Formats: sequence, structure tokens, C-alpha cells
Amino acid sequence: DIEKKIDSLLNLMTLEEKVGQMVQYNGFWDVTGPSPKGGNAEEKYEHLRKGWVGSMLTVRGTKEVRAVQKIVTEETRLGIPLIIGFDVIHGYKTLSPIPLAEAASWDLEAIKKSAEVAAAEAAASGINWTFAPMVDISRDPRWGRVMEGAGEDPYLGSKIAKARVTGFQGEDLSDPLTVAACAKHFAGYGFAEAGREYNKADIGTVTLHNMVLPPFKASVEAGARTFMTGFNELNGIPVTGNDYLLRDILKKEWGFDGFVISDWASIEEMLTWGYTKDRASTAVRAAEAGVDMDMEGNIYIEELANMVKNGKVKEVIIDDAVRRILRVKFELGLFEDPYKYCDPEREKEVIGKPAHIEAVKDMAKKSIVLLKNENNLLPLKKKKQTIALIGPLADENNSPLGSWRLGSDDNTGVSLKTGLEAYSKNKIEYTKCVELVSNDAQFTKELHINTTDATGIKEAVEIAKNADVVIMALGEHGFMTGEGRSRTNIDLPGLQQQLLEEVYKVNKNIVLVLQNGRPLTINWADKHIPAIVEAWQLGSQSGHAIAEVLYGDYNPSGKLPMTFPRSVGQIPIYYNHKETGRPVDPAPGDEQVFWSHYIDEENTPLYPFGFGLSYTQFNYKNLILTKNEIKKDEKLSLSVQVSNTGDYDGREVVQLYIRDLYGSIIRPVKELKGFELLNLKKGETKTITFEVGPKELGFYNERGEYIVEPGDFKVFIGGSSQTSLEESFSIIE
Ligand code: IFM
Repeated sequence: DIEKKIDSLLNLMTLEEKVGQMVQYNGFWDVTGPSPKGGNAEEKYEHLRKGWVGSMLTVRGTKEVRAVQKIVTEETRLGIPLIIGFDVIHGYKTLSPIPLAEAASWDLEAIKKSAEVAAAEAAASGINWTFAPMVDISRDPRWGRVMEGAGEDPYLGSKIAKARVTGFQGEDLSDPLTVAACAKHFAGYGFAEAGREYNKADIGTVTLHNMVLPPFKASVEAGARTFMTGFNELNGIPVTGNDYLLRDILKKEWGFDGFVISDWASIEEMLTWGYTKDRASTAVRAAEAGVDMDMEGNIYIEELANMVKNGKVKEVIIDDAVRRILRVKFELGLFEDPYKYCDPEREKEVIGKPAHIEAVKDMAKKSIVLLKNENNLLPLKKKKQTIALIGPLADENNSPLGSWRLGSDDNTGVSLKTGLEAYSKNKIEYTKCVELVSNDAQFTKELHINTTDATGIKEAVEIAKNADVVIMALGEHGFMTGEGRSRTNIDLPGLQQQLLEEVYKVNKNIVLVLQNGRPLTINWADKHIPAIVEAWQLGSQSGHAIAEVLYGDYNPSGKLPMTFPRSVGQIPIYYNHKETGRPVDPAPGDEQVFWSHYIDEENTPLYPFGFGLSYTQFNYKNLILTKNEIKKDEKLSLSVQVSNTGDYDGREVVQLYIRDLYGSIIRPVKELKGFELLNLKKGETKTITFEVGPKELGFYNERGEYIVEPGDFKVFIGGSSQTSLEESFSIIE
């Protein structure tokens, strides 16, 4: 039915109108006011009127969206509605934790719910399409965009991709509280060399197919309606001009029938990369490779129609792109009613509603990871005591909102101080001490911590001296991660390390609450500070969520989705690495040099992937396999008993890993292949079962083909990638 409607529409369209559908313009002007001035705004406005624009981004609010839809539906020849895109990355107005933090929950239901909330608020504000989820796997915490992904693992990343896509899109895309999802950045952007933003990515075929592509494939399987290419090149070819990725894999092999958008100007950047000669051939390259829409690049609108007329690109390529774009517009219900998402009453009712606030708070609590808790310093006692609350992030209500939250208002997060005060009767002595210095750029903020002013440290030491417990709120400001925020040093920035050490000299009862958007190197803190809580940037409800965890109303259950290195020199460091030919750790005193190691640091991470403590303890026993041999197409069941042996009710993420001991392609030392969330009352034991079969036990070979090979395997079960139980089995012919 939709296809027939598209056919009729395509028949009516001029070449210019078709190319127009492939154009996306950025908003940023008040379309309800007079015709815009400055830049090429006047021209964009003109193009809108001619029907030469298929989409806009960063237009928001029912009033503004209605105004642009009115122009295209009433003033253009065919009245084709726009599809309105926006970066709804971790919430629209009501903010959830940053995506990396959400991933630490391993709670697919909560993550899906969080995407539903984000979609509802965005859709109620006139938006049809989010540029999320970012499903880039990354092993490099220097890269600022790790905050926006699900971490380093393709299995967890694929499950989370599915949860987010289905959360955003719901069951029915035409529901006015859902938006189309966009899996980005296809592909390999997370492997930017040296963690430097926009850098090249060299990824071998086996790593590409086994590590990078699975979350994208999972997104297609979950029904993601759009894909975005990356800014990067991959093995010498910009991904925006890469037909192997876009045509062969995405559109043919995976059968993706939605549309592909470039990243912002990434088509014309192919020129800068030195891949294409001129603008005209650049436009042709991108269109032929399979990029259906040009994001704010002006290159399709300027070049593509002429190139078709000159016979340099076939019109069927344009028709295919337009068909894909129109298909998604039909599915969203925009042809039925271009103002479908523009109901101001609904906008008022949906945005910021109490159920949304509850959902993001729940998500925030589940995202927190307890990294250390010596002598059960946590949970904090509710009895009367004095707490010294120290640090630049202690009373921050902007930083916890994190990066990428364009739809929300500044300074609307609940700070840790506010959260603690609301929660407890404890006396709180507070000092911010070291300053955060801000330097507002256009609509991003570069924030760093003043490295010269140490006067505040004295004040911190004074209040720490007499406190029963010291809570130190340290980490990175929310704008220190995100796009364009790569770092070469991932220690606590500025004076914070010095502050921590000075306070420690006078009071050792310290709970370090970290707020950051990437793994940090915190070796000194791990050695000395008794309690460490990873609280990321948790969104609107941050302070309330942290307070409830610190006081034990929520027993922390998060597990790291990304390895924390000991040193930046270990990067890339990740749990699913391969063995070397010389892995042996020599006995102490052995002078052996020639094994795979550093002479100045251990090989192991500070905190491994999947790691996170609880206020209670979990014990794993009786790992039982139903068989020790299976055929290639068979499944194996296994069960394990998990007991809560501590003093609190708790929640554990039971993790299953496998190792294929030898193969035609060397396999990683461990690979996550299953996990379950288990709620256990204190003293309770539950038996949990898993199944592994061809889907879990095979891999992609150097030709990108999925194969299952006979051989010997190990299976590991535990509460982190450093598992406690292991068994063996084999696959036979
Ligand atoms: O969605 C983003 C993308 O991830 C990075 N460049 C800009 C796009 C739109 O804002």
C-alpha cells in the first residue's frame, strides 16, 4: 500500500524535488518570525518554499515545527511533509543518565523505558526522528564520545541497541509518542586512532565483523528505520562513500529498507580527506555508495540534479533514496497529518510528567557502580553524624546533565548536595573548593578545572578534619566528554588529585563519588580511598539517585560496560582481547624479559569489564552443563546456583562468557555470550539457566562469513569478566 503511494508520488516529482527530499537543513532560526537573515538562511528558506528540503534538524517545539510543516505543505507544489530530526541522546527535557552510564545497569527493560520516555517527550515537542542510538563499540576512553555508547562489548552493545531502538520506535511508528531511531555512526567511528576525534580507523575484517558490526546488525533486526554514517574513514575509504558498508552489507545483506543519512557535512569532508576531486564527484560518490540524505552539507542540493542530467549518476539511485525517505515519512503518519506531532496540549502534558521523572531516577540508581567498599563504609549510617561534602561537582546542577542534551534547560539537574540534603538529617558541611572555570563557546561549553588556585583546598581540609565521613565529589564536568572532547590524560582533571590527597591526610573515612563520562585512571584513589562510587553523569535526578544509593535505599547493582585502565599507556585495553604467543606471567624473582608485558605497569586493568560490587555478597556454585559435547547446530544448557550470602537484599548481573580454545581464526580469551539480572533477598539462592548454541559459539571469518567450527570450548560464569566458575565442552562434527 505504502509502496504504491510512493510510486504515484515519485511519478509526479521533478528531479529537483526528488533531490530536495535528500536534503536536510539545520534549523536555528525562529521560523515563526520574519524571514531569516545571515549565512545561507535566506536561501534555505527559499528552498523550503520550493519543496527542495526533505528534512530539518534541531527545529523543536510544536509551534516551530508546525511553522516549517506549514511552509512545505501549503507553499510547495506537492506538499510533502518534512521529517524533523533531533539529537535526543539521553532524554529530551527530562534527562536520563548518559548512555554509557545506562549501559552500566545491564537492565534492558529500564534502558528501553528510558528511550520510551525520551521518545515521548521529543515526539510531543514535534520531533519525528532521533539521531540515536549511537552503537559504536569503543575500546578507547580517550575518545570523548564513549559517553554516548554502550561501551566495549558487542554482545552487550547489541542487546542495548535493540532495547534503545525498540524503546524509541515503540510498536507503531505512527504513534505520536514515538520517534524513528537512527543507528550511528556506521561504521568504525569508535576506533578513531589514538582516541582523537574524527581520526581514521584501521580495522581488520575479523574485528570489523565480530566487534564493530554486530550492534548495527542488531539495530536493523530491531527495526531501526534510519542509519547515520560516520565522520571517519575505514581502512582508507570514508564510510560516507563506502559502498561495501552501505550497499553490500547494510542494504543488501541485512535487507535494510529505511534510509541512510550522512553525518553533518561528512559528504563534503570526503574532499578534505583527499578521497574525491571536486564537489560534484563527491556528491555522486556518496549517492552511489548509498547515502540517501545529506545532513547540512549543501552538496546534494548543489550538485546532484546536474550530475543526473549529465549522465554521471543514474536517476534510479536518486529514486531509491527518495523512496526510502518517503517510506519512513509514510510510516510516521506524516502524510496523513503533517501536524500530527504538533499538539501543544500534548506537549504541555507529556514533557516533564511525574512518571518520566520517576523513570529517569530509577534508571539513574541502576546505572551507579560501586567500585570499592572497604570495611563496609557504605551504606552511610542514618544516625546523626557530620558529613563533609567536598569537591567541584558536589553542588553542580549542570554537569550531571552530561553532554548531548540540547532539548533540556541548563542547570536543571539535582546536585549531589541537594540530593543529600533532601534525603538525610545528617549535618552537611560543604565546600566546593577547587573552581570549575567555564568558557562558553556558541552552544557548547568548554569547561576545565582551574589548575592554579589551590586556596580552596585549605578550607576543604578544615571541614574534613572534624567530619565523621567525607564525601568527595570529583570527576569530569559533563562537557568534558562528548563530541570533540578527546583527552590524552584521563586522570582526575586539574587540582582534584591534590585535593583528594590533602583531605585524606586529615580524614581517611572518605567516600569518593565520581562523576565522569568515560573510564578514568584512579590508581591512587583505588589504593587509598575506602569507598568509591561511580556515578557518571546521571541526568536530571542525579543527586537524588546518588543519595539513595549512598544511604542504601537502593543497593548498587551496576557493572562496568568498559574497562578502567591503570594507565593511559595500556589503551586500548579491553577484556575480549586475544592471547599472545608469550602470555606467561613469570614467577616473582624470575628475570625473564621476553614475555608480553610492560616494564612499568601491570597488564591487568584497574577495574575489569563487567565489574561492580554490591552492599551484599554473591556466591556462585554448581556450574552444571547438560552435555560435554554438542553438534554444530545443537544447543547446550547450563545452570548455576547464585546465593546472596551478605546482609542486604541485592541484585546481581550474572554473566556468561565463553572461550573457543583454538580455531581457524584466533578467538578472544573471553567473550560475553549471556547475562541475567537476578534479584536475591538476603540468604536466598536461585538457580539460573543459560543456553548457548550456534548463535553464541560461531564467529565471522576473514571473509565476513559466519561459521561454527568444531573444537574445544570453555564456559565461564561469574559477576564480572573475571569470573569465578569454569567448565569445558566441545563441538563435534
Ligand atoms: O547526530 C549528530 C552526530 O552524532 C554528530 N554530528 C552532528 C549530528 C547531528 O547533530
